[in-house]
Amino acid sequence: MSELSVKHLLGIKYLNEKDIQLIFETADQFKEVINRSIKKVPSLRDITIANIFFENSTRTRLSFELAEKRLSADIVNFSAAQSSVKKGETLIDTVNNILSMKVDMVVMRHPNPGAGIFLSKHVKASIVNAGDGAHEHPTQALLDSYSIREKLGGVAGKNVVIVGDILHSRVALSNIFALKLQGANVKVCGPKTLIPKHIESLGVTVETDLRKALNWCDVANMLRIQNERMDISYFPTTREYTQQFGVNKKLLDSLDKEIVIMHPGPINRGVEITSDVADSKQSIILNQVENGVAIRMAVIYLLASKIK
Ligand code: CP
Repeated sequence: MSELSVKHLLGIKYLNEKDIQLIFETADQFKEVINRSIKKVPSLRDITIANIFFENSTRTRLSFELAEKRLSADIVNFSAAQSSVKKGETLIDTVNNILSMKVDMVVMRHPNPGAGIFLSKHVKASIVNAGDGAHEHPTQALLDSYSIREKLGGVAGKNVVIVGDILHSRVALSNIFALKLQGANVKVCGPKTLIPKHIESLGVTVETDLRKALNWCDVANMLRIQNERMDISYFPTTREYTQQFGVNKKLLDSLDKEIVIMHPGPINRGVEITSDVADSKQSIILNQVENGVAIRMAVIYLLASKIK
């Protein structure tokens, strides 16, 4: 039987192309399950999962919780804001206390890059990174590629542009790793101040002219400006950012071809994309969210098979 090459999901950087295909094929089966009237399978009745979130989340948190419930796992939810972390408890102590209650897997979102990698070296549980600072967001990249595969029939050879705040984006880095592994052509587009130096070393090209980037691509993945990670201004005003790097319907309709619009959420409507673009037939934003549940079911199921 096929299995993943890893026992944690810490980042796309640690996966290979076969891992991604296995996750997608497993997600295909779970997507069929969650579209049935009874959206549940008994696969993980013997597994307990802790969802520990040290940072805000809507989609990722609910999607993991639903994925775990649809697999019949037992779950506990931990929110740092209401926990003894506030009294000074360390991350390792916090997680080891949770694990002593017979927890098998930890899904963690943390503001510090590498928090999941650190944890995986110090605790006895399978760790799933649900976003670690500006580092990686592997399940987001998996659901993004899965959604491209669903919409366009495959990822290899497709032209994908990631637009916006590349510098602070874990979604951008994980997407670059995932798309490159699958043979897509990747461009990043945004203000020079929000493009990391030497990003070309990851096999991507840089374009600062949005119209050129959109005319080149099959898919545009529009990112949010991550003000919460900025301690200085990277562009003069939001209005000027939107004028240069925002997508509106007039721009979309004036392109040489019909492109697919993606966004990981949360959207700042009117900043990176206007509402009529977000809600247009070219947008697959809600398909991405729907696919997130099947992808997370696949990831949890495949990792759980390694601890059974
Ligand atoms: N895409 C994403 O990670 O959204 P949340 O921050 O709401 O989980």
